[in-house]
Amino acid sequence: MNENIKVLGITGSPRTAGNTALLIKEVLTGAREKGARVTKVFLSQLNIKPCLACNTCKIKGSCIYHDDMQKLLDQIRESDVCVLGTPVFFWGPTAQFKTFIDRFYGAKQVMKGKRIIIVIPFEDRKTETARHLVGMLKETFAWLQAQIIDIILAPGVLDPGEIAHYPEVIISARRAGRNAVVIEELRHV
Ligand SMILES: Cc1cc2nc3c(=O)[nH]c(=O)nc-3n(C[C@H](O)[C@H](O)[C@H](O)COP(=O)(O)O)c2cc1C
Repeated sequence: MNENIKVLGITGSPRTAGNTALLIKEVLTGAREKGARVTKVFLSQLNIKPCLACNTCKIKGSCIYHDDMQKLLDQIRESDVCVLGTPVFFWGPTAQFKTFIDRFYGAKQVMKGKRIIIVIPFEDRKTETARHLVGMLKETFAWLQAQIIDIILAPGVLDPGEIAHYPEVIISARRAGRNAVVIEELRHV
């Protein structure tokens, strides 16, 4: 019934079995429980080069690079909801995630109207530690005219897999996935 709803998970941590990846997996599991088609990618396994600010995208309409970003942009275009995750690295996102975000300089239209769920694990127990990252993502997705529908913060996790000790966060992640599909369904009635 919801098979037409597509949810794409994009992990920005270099750890493919880390806390970000596990949280994204839970969101996708929730979405699948509601019948959505889910896919996931790991930025660390893709070849995405950093923006050169050469303005070729503005002048010629396409990026000077021919790397994995084009395919990823197609996957984003085809999805209804994107689940984006990055841990806090020095109060900001990972290098992989920032590189990915910078490439939207020439691809603003792709994110327009997209619904976004964000997951952010980090070591510190204070949620304020994620404030700069959350602020940066809110500004970025407002500029890209995408809609953040959920932000899942997971403080107090350092080692890969440690998130499993926080069942309440796992439950929220799964619920976020289910809710996202219900919201999509309502958009189509
Ligand atoms: C280079 C680096 C920088 C980090 N900076 C912070 C930080 O500023 N604040 C914080 O709370 N945790 C910081 N951490 C911890 C990670 O956010 C934490 O280990 C997180 O759970 C990693 O998620 P992952 O398992 O998905 O990679 C840092 C970790 C690394 C490797």
